[in-house]
Amino acid sequence: MSRFWRTGWVGLLGWIVAAGSTGWAEIREAGVWWLPRNVSHFGHEIDFMIYVILWLTGITGILVFSTMIYFIVKYRHRAGVGAIHSHGNNTLEVVWTTIPVFIFLALAIYGNEMWGRMRMQKPPADALQVAVVGEQFGWNVRYPGPDGKLGKMDSHKIGKDNPFGIDPNDPDGKDDFTTYNELVFPVGHPVQLHLGSKDVIHAFYVPEFRLYQDMVPGRVYDFVWFKADSTGHFQLACNQLCGQGHYKMFGKLSVVPEEEYQAWAKGKAPATIASSAPMPANTSVANR
Ligand code: CUA
Repeated sequence: MSRFWRTGWVGLLGWIVAAGSTGWAEIREAGVWWLPRNVSHFGHEIDFMIYVILWLTGITGILVFSTMIYFIVKYRHRAGVGAIHSHGNNTLEVVWTTIPVFIFLALAIYGNEMWGRMRMQKPPADALQVAVVGEQFGWNVRYPGPDGKLGKMDSHKIGKDNPFGIDPNDPDGKDDFTTYNELVFPVGHPVQLHLGSKDVIHAFYVPEFRLYQDMVPGRVYDFVWFKADSTGHFQLACNQLCGQGHYKMFGKLSVVPEEEYQAWAKGKAPATIASSAPMPANTSVANR
């Protein structure tokens, strides 16, 4: 091996080891080799589905490739040995078509049922209502005040000075408070999100919640909800390439005990105007 290639391979190996152990661990709680920790009550089923598919495709892959390698060796060219002509085997074809059909049907039906429970079913009535509106490049977040009600959002009213599209005279919105790139959720309490965008397509993505939802401007998405099973500090990362600053579109997200959430919410002054207090555009959130 030439020196050039040796240096390259050693460098690549070093980079992979470093990435798996320390470098990226600052961004994610765990290493990059397996699924991140799951803290969502929906996440267990999603992970179960991933493992079922992983096992099915893994076993199938091993069977197919070992058969292929066996045939390649067994039927290799040998001088004086003629080729075998085969017109196939109908029974085999029926079997290996029918089995995958039922597997795919089962996966589709189960997945559809799961999706229905996650996105079609109404969240519990006591769910905390939180609005999150993406913009280039950060997250506007709005919480209800003591009345527990968010001001009504209208996607047509979302604009530069009114990121949530709120009517300033809406009584429900008067006691709301807003944050920028900062989200705190109470543990064990359902949270219903109201997602929107001010400019281009962003995506609400928290791997530990197994939650990913695009936010297309002109719409307010109110069907996403979840419940965090355990506390921790996470990152809300935008998952749609939304411009030059996409890479730094991070929100700090904490799941804390209910009392801690109440204390935090109390400490936030209610928004005096309908729109959030504008923040300097270059406000950056330190990566964790
Ligand atoms: Cu917003 Cu990427």
